[in-house]
Parts: sequence; C-alpha cells; structure tokens
Amino acid sequence: MSEEAIIAEKSPFAAELVRGESYYWCACGRSKNQPFCDGSHQGTGLEPVAFTAEKTAYLCGCKRTANGPFCDGTHNKL
Ligand code: FES
Ligand code: FES
Repeated sequence: MSEEAIIAEKSPFAAELVRGESYYWCACGRSKNQPFCDGSHQGTGLEPVAFTAEKTAYLCGCKRTANGPFCDGTHNKL
C-alpha cells in the first residue's frame, strides 16, 4: 500500500527543460529538489514519473494532478 503524496507546492513549477532530455518528476512530494525526484520516495511505495522533455513546462507541485508530470489546474481546488 502506497503512502499519500505530499503537497510540495500549491502551484506548478515553471521548469526550463532541455528538449530530448529525460527527467524524473517527483510524484511523492518528498523530494528536496522539486519538481524532480531525488530518491526520497524510497519506502513510500510511490514512484517518480519519467518523461522526455519537449519544451519548457509547468510541472505539478501539488502532486494532485491527473496528468503528471504536468499541472492540470487541480491546485486551484486545494
Ligand atoms: Fe498540481 Fe497545478 S500544481 S495541478
Ligand atoms: Fe518524490 Fe522520488 S523523491 S518521487
């Protein structure tokens, strides 16, 4: 059973990404290197979301998005 994701920020992170590079978005909210995974999810049952960058993106900080790693506006309802 997984632990609940922690809300890291109630707003998205504007991340400057390098096109074609691979990133790991922190889904658990525990990383000290938001919005990216730093391994702090270990033991929570939660996993980061790997994705390949296409452009600068707004990466979800609240960890409640239904479209991780991207912000889908859910933070406005928290
Ligand atoms: Fe999580 Fe916008 S920051 S949905
Ligand atoms: Fe949050 Fe890895 S530290 S998913």
